[in-house]
Amino acid sequence: MTIPPDLLLPDRTGLPAEIAYLRATWPAPTWRAHDNFGELAAFWLRVHAHLREQGEALQRIVSSFREHRADAESFQRLFVPRLNHFLQHLNGHHQIEDAAYFPKFRALDPRMIAGFDLLESDHAIIHDALTASIDTARALLAALPGDDDTRRHMTDRHAEAADRLHALLGRHLADEEDLVIPAMLEHGERSVG
Ligand SMILES: [Fe+2]
Ligand SMILES: [Fe+2]
Repeated sequence: MTIPPDLLLPDRTGLPAEIAYLRATWPAPTWRAHDNFGELAAFWLRVHAHLREQGEALQRIVSSFREHRADAESFQRLFVPRLNHFLQHLNGHHQIEDAAYFPKFRALDPRMIAGFDLLESDHAIIHDALTASIDTARALLAALPGDDDTRRHMTDRHAEAADRLHALLGRHLADEEDLVIPAMLEHGERSVG
């Protein structure tokens, strides 16, 4: 499907009602009290919460280095394992959604197709932002032993790429929840599990 430009992830401020067509019936504050809110829905929200936390922790680590509250050695020690863990978690999550879950949601109702095509296009956009974040992180790590100006420049470049990634991811996670959770409440999570 060709995605209308205003619905592409970088320009989107939320999903229109015709795509999130179950959102008004099952708004977020009602989710957890619904009889069909089960383990898969809870797990999905937990994974998203964990991705948000991992992203925020990384942004805090980069900020403390940028604002000279951490030295290069302690920055590197904290940053490298957390970045690797975050990247693996995010990649793994998107792969399982694209391969295993999204096809099942599309099969529930033809009206689901547009929304899940959109989420799949989000994954590709996030993947590109992720690559930019990894490239700038590598350049920053390589610049750590060097002079202050290069190090500052590389830190700024990485912070910019990481901010973009986390903004895109935040929008995507919220919109995905607006599609996935109401669909599980409406159809029962066994239909997609
Ligand atoms: Fe996703
Ligand atoms: Fe997700």
